[in-house]
Amino acid sequence: MSVQALQCKECHETYPLEARYVCDGCFGPLEVAYDLSGIDAAHARRRIQAGPHSIWRYADFLPFERAPRSALAPGLTPLVKADRLAERLGLREVWVKNDAANPTHSFKDRVVAVALAKARELGYEVVACASTGNLANAVAAHAAAEGLASYVFIPADLEEQKVLATGVYGTNLVAVRGNYDDVNRLCTELSHDREWAFVNVNVRPYYAEGSKTLSYEIAEQLGFELPDRVVAPIASGSLFTKIARGFEEWLEVGLLEGRVPVMDGAQAAGCSPVATAFSEGWEVCKPVKPHTIAKSLAIGNPADGPYALELARRSGGTIESVTDEEICAGIRLLAETTGIFTETAGGVTAAVLAKLAAAGSIDPEERVVAVITGEGLKTLDTVRGTFQTHEIDPTVSSFEGALGRAAVAA
Ligand SMILES: Cc1ncc(COP(=O)(O)O)c(C=O)c1O
Ligand SMILES: [Zn+2]
Repeated sequence: MSVQALQCKECHETYPLEARYVCDGCFGPLEVAYDLSGIDAAHARRRIQAGPHSIWRYADFLPFERAPRSALAPGLTPLVKADRLAERLGLREVWVKNDAANPTHSFKDRVVAVALAKARELGYEVVACASTGNLANAVAAHAAAEGLASYVFIPADLEEQKVLATGVYGTNLVAVRGNYDDVNRLCTELSHDREWAFVNVNVRPYYAEGSKTLSYEIAEQLGFELPDRVVAPIASGSLFTKIARGFEEWLEVGLLEGRVPVMDGAQAAGCSPVATAFSEGWEVCKPVKPHTIAKSLAIGNPADGPYALELARRSGGTIESVTDEEICAGIRLLAETTGIFTETAGGVTAAVLAKLAAAGSIDPEERVVAVITGEGLKTLDTVRGTFQTHEIDPTVSSFEGALGRAAVAA
């Protein structure tokens, strides 16, 4: 096994693999460090292909000595070749990684499965999170499946579908009168004197590792090849940066050849601290007060913002933002061309992809992957009123009157 230590992303000081997330020396964030030098690519590939049909097939690249199991097994979601979407965008090869096809219908099942496996290993019996919605669903469900007690903290104005799809699992659901950044601050404070594993606070370094499985899967599903470009949403910036890290690790061990894809980040204009910093040329993000229909991406003070900026610049990518109208259009575009109904975060991703394609920023010959991270049924309000329903009497003449004879003949 290659997992070594926790390491400060700023000063590189190392720490034991415990529930800690910040460097004592410089207050920088900690992440998991690996020694990949002993991994043989051919052997690793055979182990992956013989592994379980879930994220645990990549356990050699996750922070465990022994491959864990989880009651809910996320991962191996479809990578769909989206030819009609590509045609609409004037591109040759577009793939959609549909991470709505996870146990609680978002990519958060990946990070929660890893965080809970580590929490159990460290002896925790209670898990908790600060969530913009999808994490709430995932923590409540995975805790229920593992028999752990859970506390889920959400902003009080969250979409009803996400609230209902959390409470049903029997968690302690706490709706905080404030935005996500208020919820996160409260959870950080609560974590100081409680023996709870807050998945995205004190065990955040492990939680973040779960997102690497998205890039491992994309590469494996492409036949151990790299895409040229990845478009992915940014809230805290953890997902975005860890997707690139997954590719980097497999390049390092020789499971992949080539270079890290161009990484394009997607934000909603109503909460775009990272996109703003990108276009202004800043190295850090200025916190904002979110106001957008993309509530799952509504983090005004993104913890991994500077690393997302650095990655976009280093890989030759960009960080773009799109308006609420463009997000709704992105949801429709994806639904109409692929049959995949995504939530607002996926609308942000689809809309940024469309915007970049329209601006000529993407070489039409590139192989592009759009990472669709959540399910449309969780943000139904955004499509209400965007299409017509033909209400008729139960007669042929009423039908023909409403839709015309052409509809019958077609
Ligand atoms: C559907 C969806 N996509 C993307 C993200 C972004 O995640 P991150 O905070 O890792 O940037 C979130 C975060 O909550 C989400 O719910
Ligand atoms: Zn440090």
